[in-house]
Amino acid sequence: MNDIRGIVFDLYGTLYDVHSVATQCDSFYPKLGRDVSVLWRQKQLEYTWLRSLMGQYVDFEKATEDSLVYTCRHLGLELDEARRAALCEAYLTLSPFPEVPAALRELRARGLPLAILSNGSIRSIDSVVRRSGLLDEFAHLISVDDVRIFKPSDRVYELAERKLDLHRSAILFVSSNAWDVTGAAYFGYPTCWVNRGSGTFEEMGQRPAHTVTGIDGLARKLSAAHEI
Ligand code: LAC
Repeated sequence: MNDIRGIVFDLYGTLYDVHSVATQCDSFYPKLGRDVSVLWRQKQLEYTWLRSLMGQYVDFEKATEDSLVYTCRHLGLELDEARRAALCEAYLTLSPFPEVPAALRELRARGLPLAILSNGSIRSIDSVVRRSGLLDEFAHLISVDDVRIFKPSDRVYELAERKLDLHRSAILFVSSNAWDVTGAAYFGYPTCWVNRGSGTFEEMGQRPAHTVTGIDGLARKLSAAHEI
């Protein structure tokens, strides 16, 4: 990690817990909150990949809303306008994972610019980060809106290189999503996979350069090595 000059994070599932919407889901659909949030997230990702393959772009908020409608229809749950609005709003106020605020502060104290590169629209990213009080930790919030295609397109990964004005070899790309790490590694970033559970990495010809169990693990790795 000697050559790392900036760190770029994925947002959903990496810094922020997408399943923090489960509580809100549970209040509408008792005992089914987690089932709703898991299928919702899975469909949301599929819709971004499918739209990209079709050469079509809708913003992340639309993909999120469409996948919620699918999820409720699939599970036979009623989704009126008020619930739909409340659940989509919940996606704009996700909670960071508990270790994230302190770990980001520690990383930033090392003088490295931190950025987010996300499938989210700039409005979504800004809302999630601002409302969690972490806006000041980031030098750049980068959205796929700029290129109108979703990860893992190389056009998205390229955005961070341009915004940070650093060569890809100097940017550590950090994600909990193994498919996202795969795309970023294929593009040429040194990568760090945040494996919070006992996840299985993708079999697509790439491996993460580093694996940690939380963002604090990354901060510790950098400190311990005195590499930067
Ligand atoms: C993101 C999704 C992929 O933030 O987690 O880009």
